[in-house]
Amino acid sequence: MPNSISTDSAQPQRKILVTGALPYANGAIHLGHLVEYIQADIWVRFQKLIGNECTYVCASDAHGTPIMLRARDEGIAPENLVERYRKEHSADFAAFHIEFDNFHSTHSEENRELVEQVYGRLRAKSLIASRTIEQAYDDDAKMFLPDRFVRGTCPSCGAEDQYGDSCEQCGSTYNPTELIDARSIISGTAPVQKASEHFFFKLSEFEQMLREWTSSGVIDDGVAKKLGEWFETGLKDWDISRDEPYFGFRIPDTDNKYFYVWLDAPIGYLASFKNLCDRRAELNFDEYFAEQSDTELYHFIGKDIVYFHTLFWPAVLEAAAIRKPSGVFIHGFLTVNGQKMSKSRGTFISAQTFVDHLDPETLRYYYASKLGSNVDDIDLNLEDFVTRNNTDLVNKLVNIASRCAGFIAKGHQGRLAPKIENQALFDSFVNAGDNIAQLYEQRNFSKAMREIMALADQANRYIDERKPWVLAKQPDSADDVQQVCTMGINLFRILMIYLKPVLPVMSHTAEEFLCAPIQHWDDRKTPLLNTTIHSYQALMTRIDKKAVNKMIEASVTNSSPAKVETTEAGTNHISIDDFLKVDLRIVDIIAADHVDGADSLIQITVSLGEESRSVFAGIKAAYDPAQLIGKQAVLVANLKPRKMKFGVSEGMLLAAGPGGEDIYLIAPDNGAKAGMQVR
Ligand code: 2FM
Ligand code: ZN
Repeated sequence: MPNSISTDSAQPQRKILVTGALPYANGAIHLGHLVEYIQADIWVRFQKLIGNECTYVCASDAHGTPIMLRARDEGIAPENLVERYRKEHSADFAAFHIEFDNFHSTHSEENRELVEQVYGRLRAKSLIASRTIEQAYDDDAKMFLPDRFVRGTCPSCGAEDQYGDSCEQCGSTYNPTELIDARSIISGTAPVQKASEHFFFKLSEFEQMLREWTSSGVIDDGVAKKLGEWFETGLKDWDISRDEPYFGFRIPDTDNKYFYVWLDAPIGYLASFKNLCDRRAELNFDEYFAEQSDTELYHFIGKDIVYFHTLFWPAVLEAAAIRKPSGVFIHGFLTVNGQKMSKSRGTFISAQTFVDHLDPETLRYYYASKLGSNVDDIDLNLEDFVTRNNTDLVNKLVNIASRCAGFIAKGHQGRLAPKIENQALFDSFVNAGDNIAQLYEQRNFSKAMREIMALADQANRYIDERKPWVLAKQPDSADDVQQVCTMGINLFRILMIYLKPVLPVMSHTAEEFLCAPIQHWDDRKTPLLNTTIHSYQALMTRIDKKAVNKMIEASVTNSSPAKVETTEAGTNHISIDDFLKVDLRIVDIIAADHVDGADSLIQITVSLGEESRSVFAGIKAAYDPAQLIGKQAVLVANLKPRKMKFGVSEGMLLAAGPGGEDIYLIAPDNGAKAGMQVR
């Protein structure tokens, strides 16, 4: 990666290929996905604007068990499912002005050929080992089960309904065989262990190369350190085969083995580019992917797929004598209002729902204003989103143009003055472009946006000081008004050049309004003088908070709709039969104690009259255990006992309140008979 960049049109072009992670072809694109594609799109548009040959490719990630099963559920061929999602995703990306040079599919002939070629080279170098392994098998569905298709009780903390590879409650990782009461999510039956031959890529042979490559500046320093831990644990050979039934490419010389989706997915980057090269004469596939290529290759990815892109992938490329990436740019996750995106809170927002309610460029600007070059998560705070867009884009940026354009149109028939009124100010705006370009190059978009908005403040201050509206009322000041407003318009144009990678549509509208295309970053150096502009039209309107609220309402989905009837008035009901299933009893609290190591729990022993139960309640912030003894409460007595980290909870105490210190056990008057049913 170059240390400094040139934005000078006289410099030789860099040749750059950029990829975004390939989205699985079985689900909608949401705002979390868009962080990456928008980030990469801004970077690519910037590279193109400074005159580099920069190509941005992506594709549908077509293969794997989930896609096969989804197609089976829908009763269609997986190829059709993939094609449907490929089109849907392409439309979503286009709506956000994410301009791929090609959006292909991993289920393509180019990819099949490349995958077979890569595999052939690996085999020729004896880098593929075959071993028989045992795996979870669903005897009912007649298929091997990926770890995520086995669920059961966590062997560490006892939490129920956890995935076969890790527990969402306590974070421990394990093998599916260690799960308690494991079952297949396909048939619901208990998986059996079954042996099968698998092919492994000998990753461990690349340890030295990977240690050197990952610490050579191609990835974020923090991530490189994390990889150090993986090296310490040791690199294990990588299973690249899957048994049928599977949707993927069949492995040559086998009848029923398929390449694992994660082998052919990154090769899909090459396939998408190859498909494009076949259509674009100026692009040469071999030039970009020769082992010693002078071109640059960058992968934009999320932090969840670092292992694949910084260990498996470069090792496969090295083994196949193909060039390795020049950089892997890793971003963090998206939170909304400080929390994980949630369907029930309406913050799991699809690309389509956003577009239905808001201008996609507002999201591009907001993400740009938050994104740095590190792997930190970014938060979409919806209040801040509205304020940031309205303040920066409408109040500051658009305001410059709208304040000046009217005077040029009215008093001067749209003609700009023949000279720059304040050369020093103009020059400082032009010179700021060098630093802003560096920030774009380094993907420090948030700092770039701050610099640009600081310039917008300066431009507004200039207009405030020169007051064209006052000048316009003075005799013989027509030339002054024209010059001040020409200056304002030119400062505005420079800002639109700087924002073009982020706001391509708004920049285009500005180009039409100013009758001057923006073709290169260097265009900032040439002011518009003595030319005619069109009359001003709104470049952007304020975001109305109501639109955001409607978008959230439209995104709320109920996670268990089958159990809940919704009346016309919108109230959720359960039937009386459902309610009668809940066994509510009055209980006496006979003992209560702190739980070692638990911040919020109290262990409470309750008496139902004839029997006693132990329950764990998260009410420590509200009650001291001693206060509870002798009190009465209401217990859900027929709740299935739950094994928790600190023991088994044999029921649930009902309480009310917003939480924290304000939780109240629903205690009837002392003296009610323990064990009495509550109805
Ligand atoms: O994690 C995912 O969504 C994968 N579909 C990304 C694949 S990126 C590349 F390797 F193809
Ligand atoms: Zn657990």
